[in-house]
Amino acid sequence: MLYDVTVNLGERSYGIHIGAELLEELGERCVSAGLKGKCLVVTDANVGSLYAATAMESLGKAGFKATLATIPAGEQTKCGDQLFALYSRCIEAGLDRKGFVVALGGGVIGDLAGYVAASYLRGIPFVQVPTSLLAMVDSSVGGKTGINLPEGKNLVGAFHQPELVLADLQTLETLPVREYRAGLAEVVKYGIIYDASFFECLEGQWPALADRSDVGLLARVVGRCCEIKADVVGQDEREGGLRAILNFGHTVGHAIEKVAGYGEFVHGEAVAIGSVFAARVSVEQSGLSQAECDRIEKMFVDLALPVRAPGCPWADLRAALAVDKKTIGGMPKFVLASAIGLVSFGNDVPEALMEQVWKSL
Ligand code: NAD
Ligand code: GLY
Repeated sequence: MLYDVTVNLGERSYGIHIGAELLEELGERCVSAGLKGKCLVVTDANVGSLYAATAMESLGKAGFKATLATIPAGEQTKCGDQLFALYSRCIEAGLDRKGFVVALGGGVIGDLAGYVAASYLRGIPFVQVPTSLLAMVDSSVGGKTGINLPEGKNLVGAFHQPELVLADLQTLETLPVREYRAGLAEVVKYGIIYDASFFECLEGQWPALADRSDVGLLARVVGRCCEIKADVVGQDEREGGLRAILNFGHTVGHAIEKVAGYGEFVHGEAVAIGSVFAARVSVEQSGLSQAECDRIEKMFVDLALPVRAPGCPWADLRAALAVDKKTIGGMPKFVLASAIGLVSFGNDVPEALMEQVWKSL
């Protein structure tokens, strides 16, 4: 069981490898990807205690001089202080421009370590080894890297494509159930934005997906998500247009994360709530049928994801929306659906409708 997906970006193209026991092959796959020299493996305390030894051994066997940097787990780690500390670790590890960074962990580590690689010495190569479902289906693919500021999420960052993405599905066995479900929110997103039959397949198979009991199904699902993301990124690497569809549910999702306090809702949970918000707005504004909106909401409920955030008053949420990256002239931009599998991006939504829909949740 091995799925290979290619992100086609000319000379920056790379492979995503999805399968079991791939972590043991990290070193040889880095060699195959043309990497050389020293590397800094960045991980968090949770993932490091489980998988760093295997990763370090594999890199060592393949001839790399690898140094491990283990940092605290959680969204708060994606910050300037950790970024600067990691630059120092790169220097201590002797990384020159031929060196590389390995991001071993979830999306927090992928975004932060990716941004270290994007900016250290004006950019060195990096490898994504995603260990959360969310990182496998979304954050490890496509080259968005960055950190949060106290004022908002992901406000500093760069596009920097990895050389290789290695998704070892076995690592998902240790992922806490809450984090696994949060990753399913991004999985559902791909059905909504791009592939109605994939959405239908998820509706039909959600119990097996929710309890991780069918590894073959999981592999197919992760593979399909990566195919869709690779397809979108291959057409629009830097979000000049189409790539914005990947932000379905994220405009309000990011604001919820901030207003509730980072960590209160994990990213995928906030995206689930933001997706229901976007679906309800879509009924009013872009022709989504009420029946399809209900299917979207049911899908998240079936997967035990939250669909409302009672502790987030509209006024605070609206203030947070004003500093979203996608906000232009104070007006946030929304991805809206006209049907499951068909969305448009860059939509303005009238103030009154935003407020009315938020209060309806
Ligand atoms: P995360 O990195 O915080 O990981 C979630 C938790 O699971 C952490 O506590 C982590 O230590 C733990 N964990 C991860 N893998 C594990 C495993 N195999 N076994 C045991 N524990 C494990 O969060 P996430 O949900 O993976 O990623 C969220 C981040 O990704 C957010 O910062 C979000 O902004 C970012 N993101 C980026 C993109 C992008 O395109 N760059 C896309 C989506 C999300
Ligand atoms: N997760 C949004 C993107 O990669 O563009």
